[in-house]
Amino acid sequence: MIEFQHVFKSYGRSRNILADINFRVEPGEFVFVSGPSGAGKSTLLKLIGGLEPPSRGSVHVNGHRIDKMPGRARPYLRRAVGVILQDMHLLYDRNAIDNVLLPLAVAGLERRVAATRARAAIEKVGLSGKEDLNPIEMSGGEQQRLAIARAIVNRPAILIADEPTANLDEESARKILEVFRDFNRVGVTTLIASHDRALMARYAGRTLRIEAGRFFDSAGAPA
Ligand SMILES: Nc1ncnc2c1ncn2[C@@H]1O[C@H](COP(=O)(O)OP(=O)(O)OP(=O)(O)O)[C@@H](O)[C@H]1O
Ligand SMILES: [Mg+2]
Repeated sequence: MIEFQHVFKSYGRSRNILADINFRVEPGEFVFVSGPSGAGKSTLLKLIGGLEPPSRGSVHVNGHRIDKMPGRARPYLRRAVGVILQDMHLLYDRNAIDNVLLPLAVAGLERRVAATRARAAIEKVGLSGKEDLNPIEMSGGEQQRLAIARAIVNRPAILIADEPTANLDEESARKILEVFRDFNRVGVTTLIASHDRALMARYAGRTLRIEAGRFFDSAGAPA
């Protein structure tokens, strides 16, 4: 489902953030990406989502070699991978349902079909009844769930989320992870970067840890 072969990543002329990274994620896995601040967790997720190119090496996602993909093939990746970034990038000039509709409009889906799909996505993350609210009127946890709805509305095979429980209380954080687990249970390959080891230990089946340029791949979550 995801394969990195000898992947290096540096920004500009700076040192390597990631150096000779090799791993493979099978369909349906739930993977925890851990490591201290600045280690490269967000960078790793961005490489999978095609938001950054590797400096060297190959990245395969869903059967396609994406590091060689020309720009016009990017829409493919947008459908295959649902991305929830560290700052959620919700649009505050429109209501919740229109935020979720946006990727469908970009994909060129017919309006009525899109509306039905968007409502279903909102329902799946437990936000039914809040369609008309502006994200600014929603709590942090609700905004995070809205970002998840937007990421899954195109039915991606892979879901990547960067710190989706940051700034949330324990109860809201747990609810967010339950949402991810529900998608994972129906086969969506899930990768989550987080600092919350205790929480992730309850959900993730595997940990990719980046630390001081080194990379550790282990079953379960670190103790
Ligand atoms: N667009 C960019 N241009 C230049 N340097 C960058 C860029 N994005 C990230 N970096 C650098 O790459 C390193 C890794 O950043 P990254 O965001 O991947 O870390 P992280 O593990 O996600 O950290 P955090 O836990 O704080 O989110 C940092 O030193 C950061 O300053
Ligand atoms: Mg980060």
